[in-house]
Amino acid sequence: LASGSLSIIVLGASGDLAKKKTFPALFNLYRQGFLPPSEVHIFGYARSKMTDDELKDRIRGYLSPSKNATPEVSKDVSNFLDLVKYVSGSYDSDEGFQLLDKEIYKYEYEMNRLEGMSRRLFYLALPPSVYPSVCRMIKLNCMNKSDNGGWTRIIVEKPFGKDLESAEQLSSQIGELFNESQIYRIDHYLGKELVQNMLVMRFANRFFLPLWNRDNIDNVQIVFREDFGTEGRGGYFDQYGIIRDIIQNHLLQVLQAVNLIKDEEVVLGQYEGYKDDPMVPQTSNTPTFATVILRIHNERWEGVPFILKAGKALNSRKAEIRVQFKDVPGDIFKCEKQGRNEFVMRLQPSEAIYMKLTVKQPGLEMSTVQSELDLSYKQRYQGVVIPEAYERLILDTIRGDQQHFVRRDELKAAWEIFTPLLHRIDRGSLKSLPYKAGTRGPAEADALLEKADGVEETVLWKYRLERG
Ligand code: BG6
Repeated sequence: LASGSLSIIVLGASGDLAKKKTFPALFNLYRQGFLPPSEVHIFGYARSKMTDDELKDRIRGYLSPSKNATPEVSKDVSNFLDLVKYVSGSYDSDEGFQLLDKEIYKYEYEMNRLEGMSRRLFYLALPPSVYPSVCRMIKLNCMNKSDNGGWTRIIVEKPFGKDLESAEQLSSQIGELFNESQIYRIDHYLGKELVQNMLVMRFANRFFLPLWNRDNIDNVQIVFREDFGTEGRGGYFDQYGIIRDIIQNHLLQVLQAVNLIKDEEVVLGQYEGYKDDPMVPQTSNTPTFATVILRIHNERWEGVPFILKAGKALNSRKAEIRVQFKDVPGDIFKCEKQGRNEFVMRLQPSEAIYMKLTVKQPGLEMSTVQSELDLSYKQRYQGVVIPEAYERLILDTIRGDQQHFVRRDELKAAWEIFTPLLHRIDRGSLKSLPYKAGTRGPAEADALLEKADGVEETVLWKYRLERG
């Protein structure tokens, strides 16, 4: 017996996010059997007038990116697209949403599913400016009709506001219409395999128990680098900048005890060529690179700098967390210092967790060398497909599991940390330094680490080495 109907409504169905992320994630869930055709129907909603087939043509190419898809995949694509229906309407009129509701209801009714639960999942692949009106329209016109355990849930994407005040305003507008348990705020980094592994790593291993504190850890670096620029997204990006686009939202989860950020502990950069985008004003001071040091004022972390780095148009693409341990006191092997223990979680590319440690250089001499205990996922978990972040998060929403989503109070705390700094940048009192695309970013960012209290000499030595 089917448990009822599940209607997934993608609002903003003709936009970039829907095409590139939402529909492909739904397709992958479908292929893995999580969206059984006997229960699921998918609705695209947007302003453009289009037929069902036109929408399908727009998304088809994104579902299976490889040009030589097997016949099996092609068949899955066409079966999946059979589940998709398009409804057009505006984002602030009852009319469109009443029509949408009618279509959903028709399907629920025709499929004779009303005896089971009616589940309605609204994915807002839309700019946040229309969230309040869209949420109001859903609340007025499109709530699920069954009262036997059905639900209506809303998925929203960042940016959730531009600063503390606008974010709080957005939160309360949506909060008046939906309970926190109905709202799923996506930070897609929380859906990445290695991020999901963090809690397990930290709390299921004895190793870390005695070490995870200021007595042993020298600094923590959370790094996001991309080797491409804003690529046609300059119009959006220039309104937000790297701190809002990446740091506040993807790199930040440690919140309550963070001190205010000092200007001396920030380096901003903007790559040369960023303003070539016609949507970016020539006077733009928007950072495309930032290094920010956070100081945590609590018993465990006082004095340990948390260094957040993010940049576009750098020399590599990488997202990783590096926990750098303090040096072993003394030097009983009478060797030049080899470097320190480091625990690294690399989110991408090529998921890996590794520990750097010093061992004896194999051979007759008693000399030391830096080596690694390495858990590279490709080698260790051959043939295992790591799910896309969006896939996992949409499935969590269907299952009602909110642990990998951003809660309202968490969002507020994140904005509290960054808002004063962002306002200083917006006023122009902190300048973005130019850097060449394809480099490590402004040299001042490494110099910042040199003077940051708490970062020990061997780390700095490594930086100097990398710079040459
Ligand atoms: C998005 C940002 O949230 O994350 C983009 O808006 C960024 O600027 C992207 O490129 C990075 O995500 P991923 O999963 O490709 O690393």
